[in-house]
Amino acid sequence: MASYLQIADDEKGHDLDLFCVPRHYESDLDKVIIPHGLIMDRTERLARDIIQDMGGHHIVALCVLKGGYKFFADLLDYIKVLNHNSDKSVPLTVDFIRVKSYCNDKSTNSVRVIGGDELSNLAGKNVLIVEDIVETGRTMQTLLSRLSECNPKMVKVVSLLVKRTPRSSGYRPDYIGFEVPDAFLVGYALDYNEYFRDLSHICILNDQAKEKYKV
Ligand code: IMP
Ligand code: MG
Repeated sequence: MASYLQIADDEKGHDLDLFCVPRHYESDLDKVIIPHGLIMDRTERLARDIIQDMGGHHIVALCVLKGGYKFFADLLDYIKVLNHNSDKSVPLTVDFIRVKSYCNDKSTNSVRVIGGDELSNLAGKNVLIVEDIVETGRTMQTLLSRLSECNPKMVKVVSLLVKRTPRSSGYRPDYIGFEVPDAFLVGYALDYNEYFRDLSHICILNDQAKEKYKV
């Protein structure tokens, strides 16, 4: 079982005034739940755990866009530092795919996978899928079944966040940054209808904002 940092359901979070939050979002957010610095510290440790398990062979890091892009960039920076400073190092290549399953704050039943190189390039490789958040688990399960058709040597999934929710299918990633309450979270590339990716901290969106940015 993957270990993770648990954010409790009754977590009060931190006042927005204590951190730098873009002015244009101040009235949309209630609290900072995971400050950017804590995300970085946890990510550094995930990099170490991943390299320990997967570092024997060429790794293809597969970024699930768009929500995964910040976590992907920061995680790979930490992995690169490990590769620079140890006797044992492995080539790391990257690829990007887009998966879309959300409208407003609801997961829809259809999961679409768009883009990326020929998936057949993944044959024989150690593939690390990098995701922002697992909620029902449907997105990841769909992606994993697509990938298994390409005969990779190994597939591991790292998700920065996993939501504690009765809607979960029971799927758990191999590596988890934080387990979070069943609320809609934004920031650090997680969006609500494309807004809030330009916010460094992970915050809970308030109900007014859900209305304001609804499509
Ligand atoms: P799942 O298929 O239900 O596991 O949903 C996974 C996808 O839904 C993630 O990759 C996100 O893009 C999106 N998602 C789920 N919960 C949240 C959230 O709280 N904030 C932003 N996006 C979310
Ligand atoms: Mg995502």
